[in-house]
Amino acid sequence: MDRSQRKLDHIRHALATAEIGTNSFDDVSFVPNSLPNIGYEQTRLDTEFASFRLPSPLIINAMTGGAEATTQINQKLAIIARERQLAMAVGSQMAALRDPSVAASYQIVRKENPRGIVWANVGAEATVEQAQAAVEMLAADGLQIHLNVMQELLMPEGDRDFSGYLERIQRIQESVDVPVIVKEVGFGMAKETMLKLTAAGIKSIDVGGRGGTNFAKVENKRSAHPLSMFEDWGFTTVESLLEADRDIHAQASVMATGGARHGLDVIKAVCLGASAVGVAGALLRVVHAHPIEECLAEVDGWHHQIRVAMTALGLVQLADGVNTPLLITGKTAERARLRGRA
Ligand code: FNR
Repeated sequence: MDRSQRKLDHIRHALATAEIGTNSFDDVSFVPNSLPNIGYEQTRLDTEFASFRLPSPLIINAMTGGAEATTQINQKLAIIARERQLAMAVGSQMAALRDPSVAASYQIVRKENPRGIVWANVGAEATVEQAQAAVEMLAADGLQIHLNVMQELLMPEGDRDFSGYLERIQRIQESVDVPVIVKEVGFGMAKETMLKLTAAGIKSIDVGGRGGTNFAKVENKRSAHPLSMFEDWGFTTVESLLEADRDIHAQASVMATGGARHGLDVIKAVCLGASAVGVAGALLRVVHAHPIEECLAEVDGWHHQIRVAMTALGLVQLADGVNTPLLITGKTAERARLRGRA
């Protein structure tokens, strides 16, 4: 399978299989506060994650690059990132590391947004040299290393050997001179995994949970022998955030991605301990179908929704969200109880 064709398949199937109905965020609700004692104008969206001071908690998370047709998507995403001061990650650069002729489809992101925060992205199979080259390709400010074991296993041409990942991640972390963020791609993360990462020196984790883009479904669409029984594999985003308890927060900053549909989901993730919230599928759908002005209006809408929720909860800063009481119900509560986290 041609890599650039795979990139286009991923976009097509991510758009077609998106889980835009209910998800784990619907199991989370707030205790109303009728006397918040603040005004909307006082609310602030700035946050800190992975030692980056960010004007917004929204992160345009890793999606694409590696094929001619992905250049336009990355260009549009980069314009949104620039105009709304959002940090942005590019899709896996493994394709460009093997075939430099496709590097421009990633570099467009830096070209459009020379002063913005841009994160490079590689898989945990990358060598130290490849990780460094990925950062250099974009003059990136940070490096994401993605973990996607189940996706690879379901991908017809995917990797089958996952040994040595933690050692390689540690070596990359020790040798690149930008912050390293280890992320899941939508199967969520257990505390046990996070502890292994922090023990290896990782200080920034994106729990990347189930509930939005489902790469088991995406790969099953591409496969002649789909394994549909794996489509519910993993932890949801809310379950993963509950896994990131005090022990984890003492050692790492945590962000969440997976199924954020609007600003209310973002503030829920923040109150569950996320310092920033990644968005992929929801933005891809907007970028795919709408001109840039409408994409910017969508981001403005999310920012407004976050500030409406902050006002109603009496939160001036996002960092205060961790002290907000939450009600967790349904399957999320049941599963969290089994893990001793409710
Ligand atoms: C992704 N994602 C992803 N992640 C990564 O680390 N490297 C990659 O190359 C890609 N590629 C990719 C392609 C497409 C089309 C999508 C939609 C997503 C995963 C992404 O960053 C995110 O973790 C998941 O999509 C979950 O977030 P959403 O989509 O539910 O908001």
